[in-house]
Amino acid sequence: LKQLLFKNPNEPPIVFHWVPVIGSTISYGMDPYKFFFTNREKYGNVFTFILLGKKTTVCLDTKGNNFILNGKIKDVNAEEIYSPLCTPVFGKDVVYDCPNSKLMEQKRFVKFGLTQDALRSYVRLITQECEDFVKRHKDFKGQKGTFNVPKVMAELTIYTASRSLQGEEVRNKFNSSFADLYHDLDMGFSPINFMLPWVPLPHNRKRDAARNTMIQLYSEIVQKRRSGEAGKTGHDMIWHLMDCKYKDGTQVPDHEIAGIMIALLMAGQHSSSSTISWIMLRLATKPQLVEELLQEQKAVLGADLPEITYDDLSKLPLHAQVVRETLRMHAPIHSILRQVKQPMHVEGTPYVIPTSHSLLSSPGVSAIMPEYFHNPNVWDPHRWDSNLAEKLEAGDEDEEKIDYGWGTVSKGTNSPYLPFGAGRHRCIGEQFAYMQLQTILVAFVREFKIRNVDGSDRIVGTDYSSLFSRPLNPAVVEWERRNKEL
Ligand code: HEM
Repeated sequence: LKQLLFKNPNEPPIVFHWVPVIGSTISYGMDPYKFFFTNREKYGNVFTFILLGKKTTVCLDTKGNNFILNGKIKDVNAEEIYSPLCTPVFGKDVVYDCPNSKLMEQKRFVKFGLTQDALRSYVRLITQECEDFVKRHKDFKGQKGTFNVPKVMAELTIYTASRSLQGEEVRNKFNSSFADLYHDLDMGFSPINFMLPWVPLPHNRKRDAARNTMIQLYSEIVQKRRSGEAGKTGHDMIWHLMDCKYKDGTQVPDHEIAGIMIALLMAGQHSSSSTISWIMLRLATKPQLVEELLQEQKAVLGADLPEITYDDLSKLPLHAQVVRETLRMHAPIHSILRQVKQPMHVEGTPYVIPTSHSLLSSPGVSAIMPEYFHNPNVWDPHRWDSNLAEKLEAGDEDEEKIDYGWGTVSKGTNSPYLPFGAGRHRCIGEQFAYMQLQTILVAFVREFKIRNVDGSDRIVGTDYSSLFSRPLNPAVVEWERRNKEL
């Protein structure tokens, strides 16, 4: 009754709940998309719910995406929300543990390190890593078998990212010390840390120890390289960061290089391993599409399937569409949060969002709205055949551009498809992710046929318990090795 009687007409409606602090945390946490769509029907595109005691205003659809993701720096802030979770994992003075202007410079360093030449060299490394992986992995012995997709793809993703972006020393360490350290550090992103970042949980000690050791290991790599002990090989990100300078002329200190590398490892790992897992699981529901992909490779590259190059990837549109469609339905980041810093009026409504609220954007919602995508809950890479991607982005062409220091992007966006976000915090790993995912896909399709164990088109549910959503574990599919002579 209190919730109905004391409603402020200038604030968005509050989702009804029984228990004060818990609010809607549980129903949101179990299935955020169900929660968003149900409440959108009741309250419209803008509503507030209680998330762990905090008033959180959700703004949906393209206007809502734009309102939050392209919010001005004086109005919205990301670091206040993300720092308690991320700083203990990435370390001091990087990403959200520094002023936003410094993050923008750090993003510029990374973006400029992901040159075409670098990406070109990574395709070969990732292909080799995939080949070695299937040769040595216990689940891929013999002609036929099954594998637990989320677990196996998480391993493959980390090996491919470390061999390419992270460099040779890091990749070699993954055979021993790094894997355990990574695991301990990753515990810092457990759901409980997101909910109660200030509580001294037992696994936080391991997380902190792992972070310190990792920073030390990266710093040792940098020092060895600076001293000339390690000969320059490849285009990895550590070499690049060692050459970067902030605008004030200072070099990037070793602990910041380490922190940026840890942040890239984490950001890339969770999003890419979730996406490649969904790709495999979706393909297992449509084995004929795996054959279509192989045919595309043969038609473009020749029946003998020579080693794939970076330039070849752009000639395989169906492979790119598989990635694009998977990101439409399974964007790894379901909620993007910001703290309100100044009262913000939501255009076209009487609502002013006060500074006590945080804002939540979920571009994954517009990506499955029937207004924009026909049969939105059907996974169909062919929906992108007719230049849908260009059409969706066309609206942004004439729009005013804005330079955030790391790149120039549209000042606003009307696109319902934003798996990499928008505005100043937009992803800088998109090209790397596409290159990595497509290269793994090419290698897999050449080696295996896959299908669901029972031959059905059933798909596993989503685990939303962390900041990054992913398929529920286990999710087992069947593989069969191709007979290369045929
Ligand atoms: C930011 C998605 C891969 C590095 C973001 C954001 C999204 C996103 C939605 C915006 C977050 C926000 O506004 O708060 C994805 C997806 C990926 C992917 C879907 C793969 C399928 C990667 C990779 C890297 C990376 C491989 C590193 C090489 C970053 C960084 C940011 C970012 C540094 C900026 C964070 C900020 O400015 O606050 N990503 N990402 N991402 N991503 Fe990615």
